[in-house]
Amino acid sequence: MCGIIGYTGHRPAVPVVVEGLKRLEYRGYDSAGIGFVQNQDLHVVRAAGKLVNLEEKLASLDVFLATSAVGHTRWATHGAPTESNAHPHRAGSLCLVHNGIFENYEEYRRLLQSRGHVFSSETETEVLTALVADERKPGLPLLDAFARALRKAHGAYAVALMDQSEPDAIYAARRSAPLLLGIGAGENYVASDIPAFLPYTRNVVFLEDGEIIRITPSSWQIFSLEDLRPLPKSTHHINWDMQSAQKGGFRHFMLKEIFEQPRAIADCMAGRLNAAHTAVVIPELESSPLPPRLRIIACGTSFHAGLWAMPLLEEWARIPTCVEIASEFRYRNPLLMPGETALVISQSGETADTLAALRIARECRCPTLALCNVVGSSITRETDAVIYTQAGPEISVASTKALCSQMLVLLLLALYWGQRRGSLPSGFLPEALQALAALPAQLEAALPALQTEARALAQKYASVAGMFFLGRGQSYPLALEGALKVKELSYIHAEGYAAGEMKHGPIALIEPEFPSFILVPHDSLFTKSRSNLEEVQARGGPVIALTNPPKSDLNLAVPQTWIIPDAWGPLKGFFFLPALQLFSYEAATRLGKDVDQPRNLAKSVTVE
Ligand code: M6R
Repeated sequence: MCGIIGYTGHRPAVPVVVEGLKRLEYRGYDSAGIGFVQNQDLHVVRAAGKLVNLEEKLASLDVFLATSAVGHTRWATHGAPTESNAHPHRAGSLCLVHNGIFENYEEYRRLLQSRGHVFSSETETEVLTALVADERKPGLPLLDAFARALRKAHGAYAVALMDQSEPDAIYAARRSAPLLLGIGAGENYVASDIPAFLPYTRNVVFLEDGEIIRITPSSWQIFSLEDLRPLPKSTHHINWDMQSAQKGGFRHFMLKEIFEQPRAIADCMAGRLNAAHTAVVIPELESSPLPPRLRIIACGTSFHAGLWAMPLLEEWARIPTCVEIASEFRYRNPLLMPGETALVISQSGETADTLAALRIARECRCPTLALCNVVGSSITRETDAVIYTQAGPEISVASTKALCSQMLVLLLLALYWGQRRGSLPSGFLPEALQALAALPAQLEAALPALQTEARALAQKYASVAGMFFLGRGQSYPLALEGALKVKELSYIHAEGYAAGEMKHGPIALIEPEFPSFILVPHDSLFTKSRSNLEEVQARGGPVIALTNPPKSDLNLAVPQTWIIPDAWGPLKGFFFLPALQLFSYEAATRLGKDVDQPRNLAKSVTVE
């Protein structure tokens, strides 16, 4: 997602900030920009595309006198990745860069327009910049005006602000988006991530939600956004090298990405609930009719997302849905009903089979919709509509947070279409939205214990020759995913199966050396899954039962249970999924495998 850096000190600020932006490139972006004050004038230089385009523009300017600057790499959310939508945005003497989504910007856009403000971009960030300018009254320090504007903004943000009349100062704040302070000698930095300033300083202060900061070359002060009272903060010394810094202190990108899932969920929801959080809003679909049928087409982990969502789309939105593997779909003569919508799911947006399937659906004149993580990728350019999963760049070959975000967006889609059709039972939507709002924090709290248990189980089972992952209903695609992860990361043969299918053949494999990870959540299929578990146990197969905390009538008699925190309805899956991901991660690291780049695999499969 977007990257921010602000610098104030004794060096020429523009090169420092551009270099910092390069070190944030891994976050993914599609335009970039920089703001600085030179000769008492505020300059903003922006360019669509890669940083090299921004550098070309800067090369024709004399930019070496500025000693403070803010820079930004933008990953488009509101408005296309064009120069006019790139940050910084200006309002009077101010310029501002922003990471996140200002959810209630429309009401302020209208208000500010009624006061004569003219906007030149499609972004909510420009509205936020204008709102700060609007709050600025004679005699009121900029810190207060900035805080007033931010208190009005719903949503997630990390922001940095400069003012032409105070060229040495940078103001910044965060809520649910990363922001750090880097403390140097006679210079200070704010940035989205440590690598941005790592060559210059290793002294860091981690900013928390609801904090606002003012830095100058020789000072930094952090305040509470609520009442601007100064906050004491401690400084940390970072020992990491650059590569580990990009991994945020995690040993592998995969682990980092697993732990980013609460953030991915929050980012996915941002902008997709109305201001009162009582309805789902999918602006990308507002003008499209309700699909009469859905054909979900995808590969690998993205295929599992589709399978997981199918029952929700059918039950909540009452849309007949089928899910297909793209490489199969493309080589038969698919019969698509008039109006049937092809929904392709792809993290990368470049998977050759999925792209080919999309083209076939278009030839059949089906409306097409893509769920994708990478802005501007091939798939997004060829569909009628795109919904971005907003998970941020996924670097590890094994897909983790991308799946979590796909599941979340599909769940929101099922609610959205159900809401439009009027097929949701009364009281259902508020209950779902309340549970969703609590999900990121609950998952964040659960992850460390899940990792501890995953490590213990990996110690016990990483040496087996093969294992089953079994589940029913929505746990079946999760079982498939658990098995896929074990195969691709640790090269252990793992089979994902629908638990009810075991008796039709695979149960013959059960023996004391062949463990089965069986998903038994407290859902409507609990007793059915418990029976399947007992069938495996009765044949001498070791069982690891992944289940929710036992209740009087929901109990399992198994020696090895893995207790997974409970959640509302299908949200249970968001806890079972990281458990399985962490088990595969721990098994692979235990076996000394190359976790982030498993053998024979590529992140983006652009060949068939
Ligand atoms: O980029 P896509 O979602 O289209 O990729 C599809 C699969 O190649 C991908 O999900 C693959 O199965 C994962 N890397 C597995 O972890």
